[in-house]
Amino acid sequence: MVAILFFLLLSTNFLATNQQGQLNMSLGSSLTPIGNSFWLSPSGLYAFGFYQQGNGFSAGIFVAGIPQKTVVWTANRNNPPIQGNVTLLLTGGGRLVLQSADGQETSIVNTHEPVAKASMFDSGNFILYNSDQEIIWQSFRNPTNTIVLGQSLLAGEELFSSVSVTNQSTGIFRLKMQNDGNLVQYPKDTPDEAAYSYYSSFTDDRGENVSLNLDVDGYLYLVHSTGFIIKDLTPGGYSTEGTI
Ligand SMILES: *[C@@H]1O[C@H](CO)[C@@H](O)[C@H](O)[C@H]1NC(C)=O
Ligand SMILES: *[C@@H]1O[C@H](CO)[C@@H](O)[C@H](O)[C@H]1NC(C)=O
Ligand SMILES: *[C@@H]1O[C@H](CO)[C@@H](O)[C@H](O)[C@H]1NC(C)=O
Ligand SMILES: *[C@@H]1O[C@H](CO)[C@@H](O)[C@H](O)[C@H]1NC(C)=O
Repeated sequence: MVAILFFLLLSTNFLATNQQGQLNMSLGSSLTPIGNSFWLSPSGLYAFGFYQQGNGFSAGIFVAGIPQKTVVWTANRNNPPIQGNVTLLLTGGGRLVLQSADGQETSIVNTHEPVAKASMFDSGNFILYNSDQEIIWQSFRNPTNTIVLGQSLLAGEELFSSVSVTNQSTGIFRLKMQNDGNLVQYPKDTPDEAAYSYYSSFTDDRGENVSLNLDVDGYLYLVHSTGFIIKDLTPGGYSTEGTI
């Protein structure tokens, strides 16, 4: 047992530090909840595809390289669970959809122009490109309740908690990286006003391009786009061995 755990931790370390690779999916690529259910990043750490939710499935991104599979992004998080007989398809016309057995389509991601390629990166980012190889959508810029190592929360972006560990629907709290440089937690349906906040980094008026960043050693901090560190939220320096 000890030997097995050691092996898994080592594997995780290897996976976590290999952030370069990407798996590319071309038009016509598809997944189904049972069988070929996800696209795995080359290191095996992250996957995009179906995962079990309630009495059905959801589509999203999860940490696949550890035994306790952990969801980090969810498509259409407030829709009811998907029932078995569907296909997740990158259509010939360049749309990423769920197609039911009777041909009904639900968008997984809405883009303003056709998708030419989808890539699942070892960093955990899922990126859609147009035919000019330009990024037209990425999960890192459309977070749900999580940022992963190496990901940022840019000014104006926010995270919404999930209902629970096993239910990724929108919960009751939000964390906003405000355009005034302040990182603030509020209940979900409240205005961005101090009276409603229950946590603040007290960094308001530090400029409009402050972002929240999480480095691989667990260092969580606010930084201005000029590179100036505004505030350390955790000291960092945590072991990167076997930790993600
Ligand atoms: C995916 O596409 C990129 C950009 O075109 C390319 O550099 C990379 O080698 C491709 N990856 C694989 C595994 O084919
Ligand atoms: C998840 O929570 C939402 C909101 O409370 C609820 O409506 C939904 O039925 C739950 N989904 C599952 C699969 O339990
Ligand atoms: C799934 O869809 C296929 C193709 O439309 C259909 O033939 C089959 O009966 C469906 N299966 C179930 C369990 O609904
Ligand atoms: C913030 O970023 C935007 C977009 O990159 C840029 O146009 C703007 O000048 C920046 N503002 C400051 C104060 O750095």
